[in-house]
Amino acid sequence: MAAEQTSRFTVTRNSQAVAADQRALLLEDPGFGRLFTDHMVTIRYTEGQGWHSHKVEPRAPFQLDPACAVLHYAQEIFEGMKAYRLEDGSIAMFRPEENARRFAESAERMAMPAIPEELFMEAVEQLVKIDADWIPGGEGSLYLRPFLFASEAFLGVRPSNEYIFCVIASPAGAYFKGGKKAVTLWVSDHYTRAARGGTGAAKCGGNYAASLVAQKEAIQHGCDQVVFLDAAENKWVEELGGMNVFFVMDDGSIITPPLGTILPGITRNSIITLARAKGIDVREELYSFAQWREDATSGRMREAFACGTAAVVTAIGTVKSTGGDFTIGNGDGGLVTESLRAELTGIQRGAVADPAGWVHMV
Ligand code: PLP
Ligand code: COI
Repeated sequence: MAAEQTSRFTVTRNSQAVAADQRALLLEDPGFGRLFTDHMVTIRYTEGQGWHSHKVEPRAPFQLDPACAVLHYAQEIFEGMKAYRLEDGSIAMFRPEENARRFAESAERMAMPAIPEELFMEAVEQLVKIDADWIPGGEGSLYLRPFLFASEAFLGVRPSNEYIFCVIASPAGAYFKGGKKAVTLWVSDHYTRAARGGTGAAKCGGNYAASLVAQKEAIQHGCDQVVFLDAAENKWVEELGGMNVFFVMDDGSIITPPLGTILPGITRNSIITLARAKGIDVREELYSFAQWREDATSGRMREAFACGTAAVVTAIGTVKSTGGDFTIGNGDGGLVTESLRAELTGIQRGAVADPAGWVHMV
């Protein structure tokens, strides 16, 4: 395979790339996270040398030493972001600078080197460009997964001296099997996700590893996602396994849990901004599970929704727990959820004006 040099990246095209007709077939129903494109980006980091060996190369397995630090102590972080094919054929990403910034913050929390934001952006753009044919049309998108892991072969417990940064891409349709249908949640009453001083605000693999047993419990109870309550009092609603949560009240106001131990979602921040611009009173405040049940039952809560890059904006229908079930509104979402979703996806896909400059053309 011939390599060519573009800027600081050495680019090697995949000579065994998936054929166009087969790719088109795969893109008809991409689902989420099970299809991958032909290439990946890798950049190495070595203490004392910095970032080096920038490559765009055929997607392939890594060869890792069995003592590789990430396999033992989980020193790893990741991001989730999307590239969209706009109506005129151009390609856009949504607020990628925010992912670059959050990646640097996650790195700091996990005692890892922060990749410079412009290098993160360049890496992601290189991959989007070389695998642009993999961006599905219609409501699909190309989900991008930048990640960084400790690659030194060493068993002492300390920050690694070597790291691999990688970006892979996965054509995506709806995250939930039911598409835009309202989801059912399971409230975990004994597993928690994050404590004060912990890693809840970082996007590190360990947070997700710890969430899996609770997510498994949710599935066993016929639910789509788990909701975590706070670790100190087991009282306050925090977030779902992979999404932030919003509540729409009957006076038109919106409540969402405050930052601290939750992931500072970029979708969350965008929804708050869009809702406030519409004159909606959005409060970032503690909200208890007991209050949620009471407000849903009394009708004071009209709608609730989950949001994130993968899930976009998805209505919450029913909430189940060991203390019984309750349904929000008519169990099928509502107008506020729908209008915020339409506005957000409209901006992401270039169909709605973008006053804040969130859309980044590739
Ligand atoms: N909370 C968790 C735990 C997540 O995994 C995600 C998804 O990335 C979010 C919230 C939403 O974050 P964002 O909107 O930046 O995708
Ligand atoms: C994302 O939305 O990007 C996430 O990382 C969440 C995960 C459920 C896929």
